[in-house]
Amino acid sequence: MSVLEGKIVAITGGGTGIGAGIARVLAKAGCRVTIGGRRLEPLQKVAESIDGGTPIRTKTIDVADPESIKAFFSDIRETVGDVDILVNSAGINIQKRTMAEMVPEDWDRVMQVNASGAYRCIYEVLPAMRERKDGVIINISSVAGKRAITLGGVVYCASKFAMTALGTAISNEVSNEGVRVTNVYPGEVNTPILENRPTPVSQEHKDAILQPEDIASLVLGICMLPPRAHVPEIVIKPTIQQWV
Ligand SMILES: NC(=O)c1ccc[n+]([C@@H]2O[C@H](COP(=O)([O-])OP(=O)(O)OC[C@H]3O[C@@H](n4cnc5c(N)ncnc54)[C@H](OP(=O)(O)O)[C@@H]3O)[C@@H](O)[C@H]2O)c1
Repeated sequence: MSVLEGKIVAITGGGTGIGAGIARVLAKAGCRVTIGGRRLEPLQKVAESIDGGTPIRTKTIDVADPESIKAFFSDIRETVGDVDILVNSAGINIQKRTMAEMVPEDWDRVMQVNASGAYRCIYEVLPAMRERKDGVIINISSVAGKRAITLGGVVYCASKFAMTALGTAISNEVSNEGVRVTNVYPGEVNTPILENRPTPVSQEHKDAILQPEDIASLVLGICMLPPRAHVPEIVIKPTIQQWV
């Protein structure tokens, strides 16, 4: 039996890409997973794609809307129980990646989803984790949360740096309370977010970079570690990508 059997998991951004990949492996490991995103259809497709393991629950959430976040986590608490593992994978980028192109509303929108959304989701699950002295929080940040890379753009990098600081600061606050926070920094991953790049990405490039299941394997490994072991942060990049 998997050490993760019966663990209650919430994944934002679980309808596509990295979140969907993580949902599949954790469900296969016996976790009771609820995935959320704004669109119900992709969530349902992921739930239907499960071959073996525990069924995946779906529930819409808009992490830019505080009331929607509250409703999502109330539903999980009331229907399944307190969250053991939270994965913050909901995230966006915009095509306007420079100061010359973007406007303040772009800044607000990205920060609201990538930074404030992650904070509010953690706010919902942390008190119960602290009380039980057990819990894992996985923040899907980005290499853009470690280096302000041009490819990511101004506000995306700023939002991912915010997520980085959020995860590290919380991690330090709760290290004596059994709660472990991991910031994951992926390089390029072949997911729908690439469709929003200012320049189209070739199929050849998509095939050569990371795939969602690569991040999922990593997250599974982190979740399976015993409570004494904590991975504060981890970078994963395509072999072909430079790390400078
Ligand atoms: N792909 C990469 O190269 C890469 C690299 C490093 C980090 N990341 C990060 O990985 C995370 C997952 O992205 P991905 O690559 O898997 O791309 P993706 O497939 O576009 O996934 C993003 C998910 O977030 C959800 N989402 C967006 N806005 C939301 C909102 N307001 N409320 C709730 N859910 C929302 C989307 O679903 P709905 O549209 O249905 O809401 C979607 O399922 C993101 O945080 C991204 O920044 C990606």
